[in-house]
Amino acid sequence: MLVNKYFCGMQLLDGKQASEKLKEELKHKTQVLQSKNLRPPHLAAILTGHNGASETYVASKIKNCSEIGFQSSLIRFDETISEEELLDKIEELNQQETIDGILVQLPLPKHIAEAKIINTIAAEKDVDGFHPVNIGKLVQGEPTFISATPYGIILMLQHYNIETKGKHAVIIGRSNIVGRPISILLSSNKPYGNATVTLCHSNTHNLKELSLQADILIAALGKPGFVTADMVKEDAVVIDVGITRVEDATAKKGFRIKGDVNFDEVAPKTSFITPVPGGVGLMTIAALLTNTMNAYLMRNNFTEDIFK
Ligand code: GUN
Repeated sequence: MLVNKYFCGMQLLDGKQASEKLKEELKHKTQVLQSKNLRPPHLAAILTGHNGASETYVASKIKNCSEIGFQSSLIRFDETISEEELLDKIEELNQQETIDGILVQLPLPKHIAEAKIINTIAAEKDVDGFHPVNIGKLVQGEPTFISATPYGIILMLQHYNIETKGKHAVIIGRSNIVGRPISILLSSNKPYGNATVTLCHSNTHNLKELSLQADILIAALGKPGFVTADMVKEDAVVIDVGITRVEDATAKKGFRIKGDVNFDEVAPKTSFITPVPGGVGLMTIAALLTNTMNAYLMRNNFTEDIFK
């Protein structure tokens, strides 16, 4: 593994460093609120069942809230919970004045309709940015909650001041929570937008031909090591969104986290690349916390002036 920060001109996009800076800013803002005797932002997370990855993600979200002084509530249900019970809980949280953000960790048990659950979360508390109203606003370029992974990618580009205007961004993967929203953001007429975007998916015939044209290549398909050196243009910016658990008996937990990019062979060709772990994953938490602070400000009719 190439651990040097700089290798053949390549720079690592360090999610730890970038996310810590954002978290420090949020922590400072929360301290200002406290100094004014105002309550902190409050995130409610619902976890159903015992999916190992979901348990880890939600635990990390809760831990990060406490690190920066946010209040959080973890609401756990067994995987046998009925759709109705879950909907009732969401309605209750929607009504609760002191809860600013609600997230329901996905995936849900099979008998529960994901869309119905997402549509029930009040749009102004939907810090995951999954509600159709928030997706609509995103498409229209209006201020909204941008879901954590695409927002995390934009925050990473911003932290390293990576120009996207006029660049060709090729995205592999068209999921509703990563590929599609990042395609909208990168093509929008906004800072860290204005790119020409190609959105590739499982039916794309000439994937390698397209990926070789990418100034910015985003791999978000969930196939470990899928992107190989022969698919990447010299000096490209490579963003790896993959976080697949791959069995490994030599690892302490019995698995390793693998990205969608074959890092060792791709890294030397790039100008910037995200590692996995330690890249986009950490930024997603910072993005969620930023959304929660924004939900708090909006719901209380505060502006950034409150921090002065
Ligand atoms: N499952 C995987 N990613 C996410 C996410 O960003 N939010 C929620 N709620 N569930 C997820």
